[in-house]
Amino acid sequence: MNLVGNLFGSSIGRKILMAVTGLVLIGFVIGHLVGNLQVFSHPDKLNGYAHFLQSLGPALWIARIGLLVAVVIHIWAATVLTLESKRARGGEPYGVKTWIQATLSSRYMRWTGVVVLAFILYHLAHFTLGVVQTESFKETEKLRHYVMTSDYHVLGFTVVPAGTEVLDVYRMVVLGFQPPIVAFFYILAVGLLSLHLLHGMDSLFQTLGWRNARWARPLRTVVMVSCLAYFVCNAAIPGSVLAGRLTPDSAAKSAPVATH
Ligand code: HEM
Repeated sequence: MNLVGNLFGSSIGRKILMAVTGLVLIGFVIGHLVGNLQVFSHPDKLNGYAHFLQSLGPALWIARIGLLVAVVIHIWAATVLTLESKRARGGEPYGVKTWIQATLSSRYMRWTGVVVLAFILYHLAHFTLGVVQTESFKETEKLRHYVMTSDYHVLGFTVVPAGTEVLDVYRMVVLGFQPPIVAFFYILAVGLLSLHLLHGMDSLFQTLGWRNARWARPLRTVVMVSCLAYFVCNAAIPGSVLAGRLTPDSAAKSAPVATH
């Protein structure tokens, strides 16, 4: 069997696929969070950043397709490994734990995974496609006319110059989290995502063979602190909207939206 055949056709190969795709997805969620935290700065920051990403054109689509492929492989490998571990137990709910079960067959991972998937679908429908909560986007036309008041830089290069008209992602995010039910749903979802990451990163280190006697405890501490920090930083965004610390007007005050 060739490498691809080995990866997809054996249990250990599927575990490696889960670990590698898990790493790709962790990279994405951390990068996405770092970008989103700019909401706490001047609206130029989040708006310039979003405009820069959109301007990447084909590169953005390649990244999106790569992400989608990683999600599909991750879910497929998890499903196959779960079914295998069930078969290995012979349908016994409390059979002897096999090595596959040790990292993957936990109900908790499946449950949090399904809720996170539901969250991502809602999230895409909300911010990317704009097909849910359309009432909070009554101002869609106005959202399209934010004029950058300063240059936006990446690695010292001006990628979005002052005066460029961009989408007001800052206002879109703040308006999107106005209904408390939506803000609470996001907080719950990122909480479950953080729990999923906690268990997933443990499994990942086990698969990569890093969880030996010497490193098990420090690794566990690093993983727990990182997942907690990930949760707090993410929840801070809808949480600040709920608490009235981030308002649509804070954008208007610091940078007037151009009128046409
Ligand atoms: C409260 C935290 C979050 C905020 C404020 C936020 C904000 C956004 C916004 C504004 C977009 C649309 C970007 C655009 O099309 O211009 C977006 C896209 C996206 N978000 Fe989030 N997000 C959050 C959390 C998450 C989490 C936790 C995940 C993953 C589990 C996630 C996954 C995605 C994905 C996959 C996209 C689509 C990216 C693309 O179309 O290129 N987001 N997010």
